[in-house]
Amino acid sequence: MSDDEELQAQGDSVAPVESIDSPDLAEIVRDLSRPQKRLPTRLLYDEEGSRLFERICDTGDYYVTRTELSILRDNLADIAEFAGPGAGVIEPGAGCGCKTRELLSALEDPRWYAPLDIDPSVLWRCRQAMSQALPHLPLAPVCADFTRPWRYARLPLAERRLLFFPGSTIGNFEPPEAQALLRQFHQVTGVGGRMILGVDLRKNAAILRRAYDDSEGITARFNLNLLARLNREHAADFDLSAFEHVAVYDKTRHRIEMHLRSRREQQVSIGGRRFRFATGETIHTESSHKYLPDGMAQLAVGAGWQAWKLWMDPQRRFALMGFEAAR
Ligand code: AVI
Repeated sequence: MSDDEELQAQGDSVAPVESIDSPDLAEIVRDLSRPQKRLPTRLLYDEEGSRLFERICDTGDYYVTRTELSILRDNLADIAEFAGPGAGVIEPGAGCGCKTRELLSALEDPRWYAPLDIDPSVLWRCRQAMSQALPHLPLAPVCADFTRPWRYARLPLAERRLLFFPGSTIGNFEPPEAQALLRQFHQVTGVGGRMILGVDLRKNAAILRRAYDDSEGITARFNLNLLARLNREHAADFDLSAFEHVAVYDKTRHRIEMHLRSRREQQVSIGGRRFRFATGETIHTESSHKYLPDGMAQLAVGAGWQAWKLWMDPQRRFALMGFEAAR
């Protein structure tokens, strides 16, 4: 029996514990079957993953959050003027909504805040914190995956919709997907709506690698938690000690990639399938694209937006970009 046949026979002997009809599982199996194994990035964010991500944002090595916050604070009056009075604010992938609290406090007469998040526990915490900080602001939380169509038409009236998408989450999408998402955001705000986009800028590769492989090891835990989640939710049998976190910068695609690297030759089963790993073989779990402001403006203009404003920190590490939805 060849190795492959043996693998197949062993695979067949594993009773499926879960129907492959589960969309997540079907996608996981498909992604692990590719020549470059990968896993869906969104699965990084279960309750533990979201908690670890919040800790990453506080590490000294991950400059993204504090740099963006400093840009927001330094330009708050200008940003509020750009948003205009009476805005209804929508935030896809809101997380704890910390930056948004500062933005909302500076806006003139904001009408409501609609945070969207895939994780109900995060949404709950965001809601609690927001109603303490801004008790009179109506909240319209939506538990949804913002990459899939959601019922934005039901949001209350406002002078204008402002879509706030900070944190450089746009960088986690391949550029064509990022443009499709920006087109969807354009539909959400409607013509005349505004968008404030957080964009991480191109910079020295060493700074990027450190940010995505921090010295406290929180990003490593965040990445490995994905395997723990698959073990728990899909009865997989990943040995977490047999994988390690790696962050590599792809200079041609201008993106940092997170991978989980197999420390040894091994087999892992999930959904009744068995996958073989060579020593050093990796699973690609996330890409974080880094842009020049012009490049992002071009992407957004192609999605129906008009470039309007650019705010940056003095070292030009990060940008907040303001757009208006054109016809
Ligand atoms: C959510 N997103 C913008 C983060 C990023 O920087 O790409 C996710 C992250 N992954 C590792 N560290 C942070």
